[in-house]
Amino acid sequence: ERVKAAMPNYISEPPVDLNDPRMIIVLTQIFLDSFESVFPNSTVPKTLVSKCANKKHGDFQCSGAMPAFASLKKSGGLPDGINSPQQVAQAVVAHLGADHAVLSDLSTQGPGFICFRIATSYLQHQVQNLVGKSLPKPNIKPQQCVVDFSSPNIAKEMHVGHLRSTIIGESVCRVLEFVGHKVERVNHVGDWGTQFGMLIQYLQEEYPDFSENMPNITDLTEFYKCAKQRFDEDPEFKKTSQLNVGKLQSGNEAFLKMWKILCDISRKEFQKVYNRLDVTTHEFGESFYNDKIPAVIEEFQKHGMISIEEGGAKCVFVKGAKIPLMLQKSDKGYGYDSTDMAALKYRLQAIGAQRIIVITDFSQGDHFVMCNQAAHDIGWVNAGQRLQHIGFGTVQGEDGKRFKTRSGETVRLVDLLDEAVSRMENSLLQRIESGKANITKEEVHEVAEAIGYGAVKYFDLRRNPTSNYKFSYDGMLDTKGDTAVYLLYARVRFESIMAKAKAEHGVDVEELIKNGEKIVLGHPSERNLALQLHAFGDTIGTTLDDLFPYHICEYVYNLSIAGSEFVTNCRVLGSEEMKSRLLLCHVTTMAMRQCFDLLGIRHVKRI
Ligand code: ARG
Repeated sequence: ERVKAAMPNYISEPPVDLNDPRMIIVLTQIFLDSFESVFPNSTVPKTLVSKCANKKHGDFQCSGAMPAFASLKKSGGLPDGINSPQQVAQAVVAHLGADHAVLSDLSTQGPGFICFRIATSYLQHQVQNLVGKSLPKPNIKPQQCVVDFSSPNIAKEMHVGHLRSTIIGESVCRVLEFVGHKVERVNHVGDWGTQFGMLIQYLQEEYPDFSENMPNITDLTEFYKCAKQRFDEDPEFKKTSQLNVGKLQSGNEAFLKMWKILCDISRKEFQKVYNRLDVTTHEFGESFYNDKIPAVIEEFQKHGMISIEEGGAKCVFVKGAKIPLMLQKSDKGYGYDSTDMAALKYRLQAIGAQRIIVITDFSQGDHFVMCNQAAHDIGWVNAGQRLQHIGFGTVQGEDGKRFKTRSGETVRLVDLLDEAVSRMENSLLQRIESGKANITKEEVHEVAEAIGYGAVKYFDLRRNPTSNYKFSYDGMLDTKGDTAVYLLYARVRFESIMAKAKAEHGVDVEELIKNGEKIVLGHPSERNLALQLHAFGDTIGTTLDDLFPYHICEYVYNLSIAGSEFVTNCRVLGSEEMKSRLLLCHVTTMAMRQCFDLLGIRHVKRI
């Protein structure tokens, strides 16, 4: 098993609340305090606690003794009788004592590692606190955040790249909101490009009655292609199109009207996808920043940061970049760079964002590095403000090439979602036929949507976004393995144990909660499940730092494994420990549901 280093970034200043849900923080504080008491003149790094490399030795380990010994030796301050890091470790273990409130089974290993477990009584207390409640949130200062995600382009079909941005972005927003941050969910729609010149031209040519008869989106992508063809073939058409751009961007009413018609058609289609995927966005398209660009250019000019390139283009060079940002093109027009700089200023100053996250495919990484650097250089960014770009990898077909339809076209998002749902419908209908299902035919579609969309999302979210992946319906709809389908089934299994307890044994979990029944961790599988449940705090802590939702996927997957082991190894129904064990089922389903919520996956009660 890979050992994850503790995350120094979110270790706050002491004193740490020993009930902080982030275990790593609590453990770090305990050891820092202990080193401080026993060896006040030593220095130890904050990253001294991590998961134990060898589970036989413990749950966690502390690696502070080695640097502490080295620092004491260097300063000539080694206390009498301390001649090795092992002895430092032993002294700390002795100081912590055998009946510590949080730690148990302390031992020294190898060159001076301290391995230990979390005391069962402490874990018991922690899971008891979950009964009838929700998962704990770390105590952090709420921030204003901006998440720029999804951001498709008008008149173009949303493709799998936008799907990735949409899925990842929605989950990132949910995680930030969960811990109490305020999130502006920005949809930076491409609604102001030069493509509108030719689209408007084509609209006038092809649909003279467009104001009465709106073309629909499938036509609009087709429409885009035709307009592009006319643009490439006919010099006259091209010339008028280019003139149109100027007219539109300088606010000509008739052109704005045509532009709006085109935008509205696209917008409606985008919204259909968002509705299917339970995604919420707030549109701040490129056009929103148009009138804010001149002031930005002026500000850069005032700071002497603009260099005029050949043809008169206004550029900003940032350290380390091969190409400059172009704030104004030689034809005086504004482009992608101009808009993004105006957007940054708006987000930092008008919205007052302390954290800005933009989610696009990795190929735009350099662009955002440049924009963010330029914002720093001109002095827009305070010490507390953080700018992040999440660049995700490509979605590939089974052949390892860019994901395409059989005929080589870009896969339409709606078709892809339809396919996932229809495959799921078939498998549910089979389940009904074989008598295994707990749902009626009428419920199939709704359940298939929940599972189908969930499967598409989880398949994406479960890996590091920077990696490419091969799109595979079979892979994502597999009932075994690390899929949403498996997880949703697993959760339903715990639900059905609780339902049986009520129906066959007359024991209602709701009653147990009301009566304050206690969880007792007797069996190792129960303790292991509790340990996994309690790892949620660290999972959220880590996710808040890099904003990769795969930490939550890993967590919920491990949780369901620990839960399955528990119900396999510990009889619940009719056992002496039934009440305690039912409560464990209850907190497990609650935790899984919370994770599904954070990932944007609908849960199902019965399958
Ligand atoms: N519309 C762009 C695209 O489809 C993504 C925009 C991302 N956000 C931004 N502020 N540039 O690639």
